[in-house]
Amino acid sequence: MKKHIITLAGDGIGPEIMNSAQALLKAAGEKYQHEFTTEAKDIGGIAIDKYNNPLPDETIEACEAADAILLGAVGGPKWADSSIRPEQGLLKIRKHFNLFANLRPVTIFDSLEAASPLKQEIVHGSDLMIVRELTGGLYFGEPSERRDGGQSVIDSLTYTHDEIERIVRTAFDTAMTRRKHLTSVDKANVLESSRMWREIVNTVGKEYPEVTVEHELVDAAAMKLITNPSYFDVIVTENLFGDILSDEASVITGSLGVLPSASLSENGLGLFEPIHGSAPDIAGENKANPIGMMLSVGMMFKYSFGLHEESAAIERAVNTVLKQGFKTPDLKIDGAETISTTEMTEKIISNL
Ligand code: NAD
Ligand code: IPM
Ligand code: MN
Repeated sequence: MKKHIITLAGDGIGPEIMNSAQALLKAAGEKYQHEFTTEAKDIGGIAIDKYNNPLPDETIEACEAADAILLGAVGGPKWADSSIRPEQGLLKIRKHFNLFANLRPVTIFDSLEAASPLKQEIVHGSDLMIVRELTGGLYFGEPSERRDGGQSVIDSLTYTHDEIERIVRTAFDTAMTRRKHLTSVDKANVLESSRMWREIVNTVGKEYPEVTVEHELVDAAAMKLITNPSYFDVIVTENLFGDILSDEASVITGSLGVLPSASLSENGLGLFEPIHGSAPDIAGENKANPIGMMLSVGMMFKYSFGLHEESAAIERAVNTVLKQGFKTPDLKIDGAETISTTEMTEKIISNL
């Protein structure tokens, strides 16, 4: 198989973990006889520095011609007070390619049970998928501005029926491939958008009689996610709730650094990135956990290229290295040896 991939390393630890992704692509290509070519482009803070634009046209054009996109992370203190923000580049690329379906699997590798600050009996057996709506809601609502000379402010939460329906369908389809248990998370006791969301979930649900559906309010769901994570199979929710719940869910696996994601459109290009940010506090120190990025490569293999065996091999390799007792500094596992980003990358690759 021949595939061309655009790599958007971005800022902070982005370039460090993108090196891990590159090394993995090279090794997987050799092992499984695929030709993966890559082309690096800019996004985020580095693109602001170079072009005064967090998503240059050149980056978009290269992505349009590619088979998939890998992204590291964007943002950092350097651009925190600038009027053009690195994060705008990320939102813009999601919108441009209509990447509405953000799949964030939260799988606990056996060896990571001990890494969670939660009790082992609570995290044991957790395996859930957060299906986050990614191109609507408060992130994209207009108007979004200061008013009355700075005395008031407005952000708007808007969704169309179609936008809700397509993500809900994605979630039902996902549930059908798993344990057929869907939890729709909303704030229907307060928000009209959530009441419409619930109606659509109930209507679409009639087409999926095998799937058990329930509705949870987001505050209670946040609590249940860390008190009883194995209760959940598929969670579907709107953009902002999904952002917050997925970082919370990383507590189950012991670190934000191990969670991957896929951002998919209806029939086009996919973008794959770890769920964490640019981690400015550890950038440049060869300390970042590359697992979230490497598992994102695995998701690209599976969702964009249909390479299921190659994807599973990456997960197995990660599990093996953790079982061998190696970890990066973010993981708190008694008795495990702490190694660097590059060492972790090499170990995972050598276990492919
Ligand atoms: P963050 O996710 O960058 O970091 C939160 C904490 O988790 C930090 O202590 C960090 O060191 C740690 N961490 C994150 N990833 C890690 C990894 N791979 N290995 C080890 N430790 C890791 O969140 P933040 O500090 O709130 O945000 C920093 C910047 O990143 C902000 O500008 C934010 O907007 C941006 N951000 C970008 C993305 C993205 O590009 N997709 C996602 C989230 C945040
Ligand atoms: C994520 C990030 C982004 C989001 C930010 C950086 C815009 O937190 O990918 O989870 O909120 O979607
Ligand atoms: Mn986030």
